[in-house]
Amino acid sequence: MKVDAARGLAGRLPDGEAFLAAMAGPFARAVRTHPRRGQPSGWGDLRAVAWNPQGRFHADDLDPGDFLDYHTGTVHPQDAASQVPAVLLAAQPGETIVDVCAAPGSKSTQIGLDLGDDGLLICCDASAPRRRVLAEVCARQGITCAVITPMGIEALVERHPGSADGVLVDAPCSGHEPRSDKQVARMSDRQVALLASSAPLVRPGGRLVYSTCTPHVAENEEVIERFLAAHPRWSVDPRTLSGCDTDLAGLGAIRLWPQRQGTEPFFACRLLHAGDEPAVTPVGYLPPGDGLLGRWLPGSELHCWRRGTAVFMGSAAAAACPIPSEARGTLLGHARGDHLDPEAWAAQALIERGATSIAVERVDAAGLWAGDAVPGLPIGSFIRTGDGAPLGLMARDGRLALPSRMRRAGLRY
Ligand SMILES: C[S@@+](CC[C@H](N)C(=O)[O-])C[C@H]1O[C@@H](n2cnc3c(N)ncnc32)[C@H](O)[C@@H]1O
Repeated sequence: MKVDAARGLAGRLPDGEAFLAAMAGPFARAVRTHPRRGQPSGWGDLRAVAWNPQGRFHADDLDPGDFLDYHTGTVHPQDAASQVPAVLLAAQPGETIVDVCAAPGSKSTQIGLDLGDDGLLICCDASAPRRRVLAEVCARQGITCAVITPMGIEALVERHPGSADGVLVDAPCSGHEPRSDKQVARMSDRQVALLASSAPLVRPGGRLVYSTCTPHVAENEEVIERFLAAHPRWSVDPRTLSGCDTDLAGLGAIRLWPQRQGTEPFFACRLLHAGDEPAVTPVGYLPPGDGLLGRWLPGSELHCWRRGTAVFMGSAAAAACPIPSEARGTLLGHARGDHLDPEAWAAQALIERGATSIAVERVDAAGLWAGDAVPGLPIGSFIRTGDGAPLGLMARDGRLALPSRMRRAGLRY
């Protein structure tokens, strides 16, 4: 008979019984707010997440998809524990970051917002369907610095060693389901191998964050210990975070627990590579710039380029990155001659960056989203709420232009 590995772990914890009970969930629900898209509205009590200024816990019975804020990208549903790795990575504008296991993109978009429009975020993931979701999540959050690549880590390391200031390995793990010790051990071997194969991407002096959403020591503290034993130029960069626990081996890593923080179980550790050398960031051909963006964002640092009729905008580093990609920057739209109506997510990204827009009351915003015609809003104008949540573009039919599959009606605001 299989014995759940969590039982063994519970024996090591002072609150082991509470841990086993809390592992069944549900976990406290949380969102991450977008720094440039206004404030959440209509949610009732939102409680600050102590370890991330952008994080908010919300009531269990609320579904973010029911809120206008979700559709304007003002909030992104993300477990509060899962917000820790990007906080530890602390990406700075201008840096190159590789997210090794990026899909579906909660942490990638958090990192992308830290980089802003200046820098490069290379997103890898072994799953093609999950990479497609990642591309949409990036578009919805207005991320312009991301390059989503089908390249495997080994190929990336072979061509671009030392290319990153920082790397995130948010590893596949046993999660919260019952697992035998044997299953956990197999996963641990896989995680050590993934960490070891990702590490050469980091420049000397750069950092690597390893994380999982499972409680098992073999997939967390032991992975770090096994990696350090085989990689003498690496060490833990010890961290503590407000409201979080420390790890179980005194390494200087972070732990979160369902019975303590109320989140899913989580582990994150920041590692440092000895030395100090600049990243050898991959630089390729910068496609010829297109002046189209100047219409909405005069003087913007963003690069704008065409491929056929498709027009893209992105950070210069994302535009010039020579790595094969399935998506890079943001699709602005499809041009007919010199005319282009921005795609829905691109319109939101333009508004967020200061494109001229008209502010409406939230009640009108919800009406517009539901497909109502609101008089007095000129065709071709950008619309936002008074506090800066971007809605989109008024289309020729006098309604807000939205992708057809978006939920429109009955949203809370
Ligand atoms: C925990 S999930 C990542 C979640 C993601 N970081 C987020 O915050 O939305 C782990 C991911 O690793 C991917 N994966 C598994 N093995 C991989 C490998 N060898 N290289 C790259 N990605 C891998 C899986 O497809 C899965 O999407």
